[in-house]
Amino acid sequence: MPNPRAKTLDELPTAVASVLDAARADLERLVRIPSIWADPAHADDTRACAEAVAELARDAGAADVAILVAEGGAPAVVAHFPAAGSAPDPAAGPRAPTVLLYAHHDVQPTGGDEHWTSPPFEPTERDGRLYGRGAADDKAGVMTHLAVLRAYGGRPPVGVTLFVEGEEESGSPTLTALLREYRDLLASDVIVIADSANPAVDVPALTTSLRGLVDVVVEVAMLERPVHSGVYGGPVGDALTALCRTLATLHDESGDVAVAGLLHGTSDAPDVDEPTFRSDVGLLDGVELIGSGSIPERAWHRPAVAVLGIDAPRVAEASNVLVPRARAMVSLRLAPGDDAGKALSALTEHLERHVPWGAQVSVVAGTGVAEPFGLTTTGSAYDAARRAFSAAYGNEVVETGIGGSIPFIAEFARTFPGAAVLVTGVGDPASRWHGIDESVHLEMFGRGVLAEAMLLAELAR
Ligand code: BES
Ligand code: MN
Ligand code: MN
Repeated sequence: MPNPRAKTLDELPTAVASVLDAARADLERLVRIPSIWADPAHADDTRACAEAVAELARDAGAADVAILVAEGGAPAVVAHFPAAGSAPDPAAGPRAPTVLLYAHHDVQPTGGDEHWTSPPFEPTERDGRLYGRGAADDKAGVMTHLAVLRAYGGRPPVGVTLFVEGEEESGSPTLTALLREYRDLLASDVIVIADSANPAVDVPALTTSLRGLVDVVVEVAMLERPVHSGVYGGPVGDALTALCRTLATLHDESGDVAVAGLLHGTSDAPDVDEPTFRSDVGLLDGVELIGSGSIPERAWHRPAVAVLGIDAPRVAEASNVLVPRARAMVSLRLAPGDDAGKALSALTEHLERHVPWGAQVSVVAGTGVAEPFGLTTTGSAYDAARRAFSAAYGNEVVETGIGGSIPFIAEFARTFPGAAVLVTGVGDPASRWHGIDESVHLEMFGRGVLAEAMLLAELAR
């Protein structure tokens, strides 16, 4: 067993500082592995990534490490780190709480390696940021946990279960099965999710809500086969136009989601500065924001719908025929408080009802479903987090919603209703999650490690 390095709060800054160089090197090692689980061509890479995480957990002093796989699912790593000085016999006295540290080791596709300033799987530092696919989402989360465990020499002040899944970016389709099968291995009092973001590199956040997500593939069919567009065009329509008309009904004139039956929430969060928001996002000159309500209300507490892709003839290969069938993937984000099953029915019915011209339509649900999640930050675990995070970052903690989704959270909360859920992370508005040139701010990564190390010390009190 490695020597415990840190025991008290005062010793933590030094202990954390001493593990950061190695943690950054290991973050680079993980970023080099293209663990795109959603792409079957990268299934072996995802398995290699799980092996690498398991090895890092062993090196950090885990008492046991296992790789869990549910039927058809991606490999997840689970490792246990007993509390320092914990009694071998649990009946001997009050036990330290068990804290589950969550992150995911799978990453999004690159969106075209040639668009990146440096290759996505060659981690590269520029201006204090480390660039690479997964550098922020979520290999920085994985390494935050491992660095904290190393700073404690593998024996933290609370019992720790490290859980790093490999299919979050696919909507965690086998997570329910995994949680059911390994319930006892994962049981915990507090869960720390390191997969979210802070509003600025020196302002720590507690994420209080996430949106849910459902998606479908809608296919429209009009003809048995392609036919001459001049001979028949006019009386005969084409399926691509019918699909576009269907998709165009998803928003109303002002850009709000027009699907009936969805929950629309409100937010009293102060509005964000629109020019800053526009430049963070990269909106082009003259392009308007869509929908109504404050920006936080729109992004965190209301539904959003988007077309993610269309299968239809490519322009370069297009010819003078009427397209017989076409399909699109439609993604719907859900407000906290909504229900994914109900929302899926609402979206399906909307699409079926709005297809014009009697075209045949089929709507097939995707496998990745995330329930939305909202929480109130009252209780001792949240007080501990506020003390730890504000001390580590040097600024007060802000509470924030997030427009993205993490399927594990609602699933875990359903399995362990008594556990306190802390959603944190080391992303920032410049991280470009899922985009080109994703990155993590290295100084903030260090603050995030210290914050989580201090959190474990606070939770032990
Ligand atoms: N880490 C993100 C969610 C996120 C993004 C939180 C930015 C905070 C700031 C997560 O990996 C993610 O992208 N989730 C997917 C889930 C989906 C596949 C069910 C998402 O939101 O698209
Ligand atoms: Mn993530
Ligand atoms: Mn993601």
